[in-house]
Amino acid sequence: MSKEKIIVLDFGGQYNQLIARRVRELSVYSEVLSSDTPIEKLIEMEPTGIILTGGPNSVYKDGSPRYDPKLFELGIPILGICYGAQLMTYLLGGKVETAPVSEYGHTDVDILKGDDILFRGVSPKTVCWMSHTDYIAQAPEGFTVTASTNVCPFAAASCPEKKLYFVQFHPEVAHTAEGMTMLGNFVKKVCGCKCDWKMDSFVETSIKEIREKVGSGRVLCALSGGVDSSVAAVLLSKAVGKQLTCVFVDHGLLRKNEGDEVEAVFGPSGSYELNFIRVNAQDRFLGKLAGVSDPEQKRKIIGEEFIRVFEEEAKKIGTVDFLVQGTIYPDVIESGLGKSAVIKSHHNVGGLPDYVDFKEIIEPLRLLFKDEVRKAGLELGIPENLVFRQPFPGPGLAVRIVGEITAEKVRMVQDADAIFRQEMALAGFDKYANQYFAALTNMRSVGCMGDERTYDYACVLRAVTTTDFMTAESAELPWSLLGKVTTRIVNEVKGISRVFYDCTGKPPSTIELE
Ligand code: XMP
Repeated sequence: MSKEKIIVLDFGGQYNQLIARRVRELSVYSEVLSSDTPIEKLIEMEPTGIILTGGPNSVYKDGSPRYDPKLFELGIPILGICYGAQLMTYLLGGKVETAPVSEYGHTDVDILKGDDILFRGVSPKTVCWMSHTDYIAQAPEGFTVTASTNVCPFAAASCPEKKLYFVQFHPEVAHTAEGMTMLGNFVKKVCGCKCDWKMDSFVETSIKEIREKVGSGRVLCALSGGVDSSVAAVLLSKAVGKQLTCVFVDHGLLRKNEGDEVEAVFGPSGSYELNFIRVNAQDRFLGKLAGVSDPEQKRKIIGEEFIRVFEEEAKKIGTVDFLVQGTIYPDVIESGLGKSAVIKSHHNVGGLPDYVDFKEIIEPLRLLFKDEVRKAGLELGIPENLVFRQPFPGPGLAVRIVGEITAEKVRMVQDADAIFRQEMALAGFDKYANQYFAALTNMRSVGCMGDERTYDYACVLRAVTTTDFMTAESAELPWSLLGKVTTRIVNEVKGISRVFYDCTGKPPSTIELE
C-alpha cells in the first residue's frame, strides 16, 4: 500500500473535517492539521498534497491566520478553498478585497476552462456552494482564471506549472453538485494518488501507532458500551492485549437495564478477553449534580467526576500511563476546539478537568465521523448489533433531563425511553431513525386522570434521521405509533402526564436537549 497522504491545513472553517472525510472517501488517507503547525513539521509529514481550508477571517486584517509563503515553493500540489484561496492569492501577490455583493448558498458557476485538470468532466455551467464576503479581485501572476460567477471574476484559477489551484466555493459540501469530481481530480490527477487507502488501513495503522506509543505501559479505557468507546476498547485490546483494563462507570444516568447489558457483553461472561471493571457510582454522581440545572455545568461536573473515578480505579490497579477515550470528530468540533465556535462541551473533550493524573490521553477515533467509526468496528469484527447501536451521549440522561436531576426524574425518563424504544422496534422504525429517545422537560402541567387533578411532568419524544450527526432532520413517525407510545407512557410512567414530539431539525436545535 502506498503512503499517500493529503494534509488539510485548518484556517477555522466549519467544513474542514468534511474536506478530510471527502478525501478519505476517495480512498486516500487525510488528516487535518492546525494552521499553527510549523512548515518544518508539515514537510516532515511528506504530504502528497495540501488543501488550505475556508475560515471566518479576512486575509488583509491584522491577526488573521497566515502561513509561511515558502509553502508554495515546495513543489507539493496545493488546493486553496475559500479563505484558503484568498490566502494563496494574498501571499502570492494577488488582490483580495471586500466583494461588492456577498454570495451565500447555491451559486451558478461558469467553468471557463473545461480542460483545466481540476474541472475535467465538470459541466460548463455548474452549481456550487458559496459563502464569502471577500473575493479575489486579481489572481497572482502566473495564474489563469478557470471559473467565474456574476460576482466573482476569479471563482477559480490555476497555475499548473507550480501545481497550485484555488476555488472560491466549497467543493466538499454536498450542495456543490460536482464537488467530488473536482476533489477527485485534485487528488488523482494533480497529486497523482493511486487511491488505495481503506478503512482497514486505518485499523492497521492505528494498531501500529498505539503499540509504538504505549510500549510496555499500562492503559485504562473508559468503556461506556456505546459504539465509540466499544470500538476504541477493541482497537486497544487488539493493540496491547492485557496491558489494557476497561473501566465501565455506571453513573446511574444510563438507559433502563443498560448497566447489566454492558456487563453481559464485555464482562467475564462476555465474548472479549478484557480486564473489565464495573464501578457503581450512581449515588456519587447524583450527589454532585444535586441542585444543578445549567446544561454546561452538568456536563462539566460529569466529565470531571468521570476522570476522578478513573483516577481512583487506576490507583487501585497500580501505575497507569495512558487513558483511552472514544472521542469522535463531531464531539471535537462542537466542543469548539481549534478555531470553531463552542456549541456544547461534550464530556469527552471540553469537560476535561485541567489536571488529569495520566501520562497521556489516547483518542484513536478523534478524526472519524460516526459512520466511519462503524466501518472501523466492522473491520475489527465487532458484532453488527453493537456496531449499529444508536449513539448515547457520555453524560447520559443528564442531558435528557432539562433542569435539575433527581433519582425520581431519572426513573421517569428511563421508563418512558424504554417504552418508546420498544414500540419503535415493534413498528419497524428503529432502522429508519438513526437516533431516538425520550427526554424529560422541566415543565409541569395540569392534567386530569381518573377524575383527579394531576400536576405532572411533560416528556419529549425525539427521533432524528442523520448520517453524520452534525446535521439532522426530525423523523416522520406515524401518528398511530406516536399515539400508542403516548398512551403507554402516561398510563405506565408515574409522574408524566403529557407527551410532546420534537419536530425540530439540527440546526437550529441540537439532537440532545442540552
Ligand atoms: P448534539 O446534541 O450535539 O448531539 O446534536 C450529536 C450527537 O452526539 C451525541 N452527544 C454526545 N456524545 N458525549 C458524547 O459522547 C457528549 O457529551 C455528547 N453530547 C451529545 C448525541 O447523542 C448525538 O448522537
